Amino acid sequence: MAHKTDISRRDFIKSVAGFVGMLIGIGIGLPSILYLLSPSLEKTQDDLIIDLGSLERYPIGIPTRFEFTRTRVNGWERTATNYGLFVLRKSESEVRVFSNICTHLGCRVTWHPDQGHYISPCHDGHFDMVGNVVSGPPPRPLDEFTAEIKNGNLIVSLPPVKRKG
Ligand code: FES
Repeated sequence: MAHKTDISRRDFIKSVAGFVGMLIGIGIGLPSILYLLSPSLEKTQDDLIIDLGSLERYPIGIPTRFEFTRTRVNGWERTATNYGLFVLRKSESEVRVFSNICTHLGCRVTWHPDQGHYISPCHDGHFDMVGNVVSGPPPRPLDEFTAEIKNGNLIVSLPPVKRKG
């Protein structure tokens, strides 16, 4: 009888020790697991509005380049996208903003004031001042950002809008 009680006591102590060990394991392990998982639980940053600064810094009638990098965090993944655009201020209050990505195969166009064209260096695609195709293989005009002026600042929305050729 005494022997049986000893075994039960031993089993009980083993069970308690196992339970305490499990609690310690959870106490140590759970924060680590949560720490490792936390980036994947973060919300995606999706800032769609970019402030290009005061409209006054863009001369009227001359396409002016502006570049920025947008970093998006989606869980573990951090993606940096470089955007290039041309601001064309047509008057005191009228402004259009074009992407510098050629609509043929995605090369970056540059403004050539001597020709009055944006030119894609890859296959000699030409676009006029408002992004319409003049010559070469591009199938449609340059994409255009939706732009507005707020408190004297130029604001654009991402992503740029595709225009039909
Ligand atoms: S990528 Fe611009 S013309 Fe081909």
